[in-house]
Amino acid sequence: MTIRPYRPSDFDAVHLICLATANAGVPMTGLPDPDIVGHCFADPYVTFEPELAFVYEDGEGVAGYVIAALDTTAFENRWRAEWSPRFIESHPPPSVSAEPEADAWLREFLHNPSSPAATDFSDYPSHLHIDLLARARGAGRGRELLAVLFEALRAKGSPGVHLLVGRNNPGAVAFYRTVGFTELTTSVPGIAAFGMRLD
Ligand SMILES: CC(C)(COP(=O)(O)OP(=O)(O)OC[C@H]1O[C@@H](n2cnc3c(N)ncnc32)[C@H](O)[C@@H]1OP(=O)(O)O)[C@@H](O)C(=O)NCCC(=O)NCCS
Repeated sequence: MTIRPYRPSDFDAVHLICLATANAGVPMTGLPDPDIVGHCFADPYVTFEPELAFVYEDGEGVAGYVIAALDTTAFENRWRAEWSPRFIESHPPPSVSAEPEADAWLREFLHNPSSPAATDFSDYPSHLHIDLLARARGAGRGRELLAVLFEALRAKGSPGVHLLVGRNNPGAVAFYRTVGFTELTTSVPGIAAFGMRLD
C-alpha cells in the first residue's frame, strides 16, 4: 500500500475512479456517455499537470487519487485552447434545453470550465480534486494524499489551493473542515467552497 506520483499507466484507473465517485462518492449514472465525467474532472489534470497528481495504490490496484492545477486561470485558458476542441464533435456544447440536465451541464463545462461559484479565489489560485474508492476511505489516506499534494504545490510556489464540493456530500464537507480548510463564501446554492493557504 503506497502513495506515489502518478504515472501515465494510471490514466484509465484515475478516469474510472472519477466516474465511480462522482455523485457524492458513488457513481454518476444516466449519462449518454459516462466517460464525460473523467473528461471533465480527471483527464485534463493528469494530461496537463501530471506532476501534481498522486495516487494511492493497494493490493487491488489504484484506489484513489489527488489531482490539481497550479494556476486555475491559466489551466482553464489552456483547457479552452487545447482540451475543449477535442470534444467539439463527440460532446458538443449544449444548445437544446430538452437535453438531459446533467449531460448538458457537463458538456457546457467541457467547453467552458469556469468555476460556477462566483467566489473570490485570489488567495487560493490552485485547485484540487480528491477521490478514493470506498475500500480506501476512512483510514487516513485522504489526509495523506493532501499532505503530499500540498508539498508539491508549495515546491511550485503556490500560495493557496481551493476546491468546490456539493453540499449533498456532507462526508467530504466534514473531511475538508477536519483537515484544516477554511470555508469560503459562495453564491451558488448547493455548493460549498473551501480554501487552504500553503504559505
Ligand atoms: C472525502 C475523502 C477524500 C476523505 O478521504 P478519507 O481517506 O476517507 O479521509 P481520512 O481518513 O483521511 O479522514 C481525515 C479526517 O477527516 C474526517 N472525515 C473523513 N471522512 C469523513 C466523513 N465522511 N464524515 C466525517 N468526518 C470525516 C476523519 O474523521 C478524519 O479526522 P481525524 O484525522 O481527526 O480522525 C474520501 O472519503 C472520498 O474520496 N470520498 C468519496 C469521494 C468524494 O466525496 N470526494 C470529494 C469530492 S469534492
